[in-house]
Amino acid sequence: MSSNLRSFSHPEYCPVSGVAEFKSDGAAMPPPQAVLEAENLHFRYSDDADAVAGVSFRIMPGEAVALCGHNGSGKTTLMKLLAGLLKPTKGLVRVAGIEVNARSAQEVFRTVGLLFQDSQDQLFCNSVEEDVAYGPRNLGFSDADLKKQVALALNITEAQHLEQRPIHHLSGGEMKRVALAGIVAMQNSVLILDEPFDGLDPAAISRLVTLIRHLASVHGYSVVIATHQMSLVPEVASRMLVMQGGGLIADGTVRELLTNVPLLEQARLEPPSITRYFYKKALLENRKPERLPLTLDEALLCDDNR
Ligand SMILES: Nc1ncnc2c1ncn2[C@@H]1O[C@H](COP(=O)(O)OP(=O)(O)O)[C@@H](O)[C@H]1O
Ligand SMILES: [Mg+2]
Repeated sequence: MSSNLRSFSHPEYCPVSGVAEFKSDGAAMPPPQAVLEAENLHFRYSDDADAVAGVSFRIMPGEAVALCGHNGSGKTTLMKLLAGLLKPTKGLVRVAGIEVNARSAQEVFRTVGLLFQDSQDQLFCNSVEEDVAYGPRNLGFSDADLKKQVALALNITEAQHLEQRPIHHLSGGEMKRVALAGIVAMQNSVLILDEPFDGLDPAAISRLVTLIRHLASVHGYSVVIATHQMSLVPEVASRMLVMQGGGLIADGTVRELLTNVPLLEQARLEPPSITRYFYKKALLENRKPERLPLTLDEALLCDDNR
């Protein structure tokens, strides 16, 4: 585990080298199986500094985790490592307990789906139907299963009406949903979303937030979402990882980390505006900034606001 990792205690957090639990008869229980595990992960593009430098964490089934960090902090590189698209310079990634390498690549692609930041990099067929079918076809689905899978994935992502559309006629929000449908069609269990809200208008962001929550809560996906839009973090995640200079500087609950304004400032991130407002107000009034709201709804319930 990286030496500068600040680990905060919360029920879902489970460090890689965690202390084994003991059964009442004294025998050690095996730690629960993580869906995704990074162990002292390093990656270097060239002779420069490491883009990912000694990152370790575990993600448990059903967790929704926001990966936050300023531009260039290493989020995309880390996500590509987790999805098996880059080979670590040092350290390793495990998917459902299996080390990611050339031999396990097919299994990894079946389990982990990566949504690229730019949908244009992901969608390359002419029509939506062809594009969504591309992944499962490569995994060897039969024609009948393929049709079923495409219909199901478009249904889950509420994109059925786009099925016959040419890709180049889609809006930004529609492209995101179709790209997500292409991943869901592979029947994987881990979604890695790289800046999914980038470039979307508020209505498209709101639909995507609802979809991500639905995929996690109803379909049981484990989700990792890279974003620098802090106000969206409480909407889609309960745990947060913070990156800086390729390293992981914090791992904790969204509430703990989004209200830790000095930590966010150190990471060159801003808390949600509403959190910042209550933080500054408390400081101006010489009060300890406590019970800071993360969302507008929470602020409306805040006593201080009455
Ligand atoms: N293809 C590449 N070749 C060389 N350096 C890269 C490449 N992609 C990213 N980097 C560098 O790696 C570091 C981390 O980048 P990235 O993972 O894209 O961060 P983020 O997604 O947080 O913006 C940055 O310094 C960036 O310039
Ligand atoms: Mg990026």
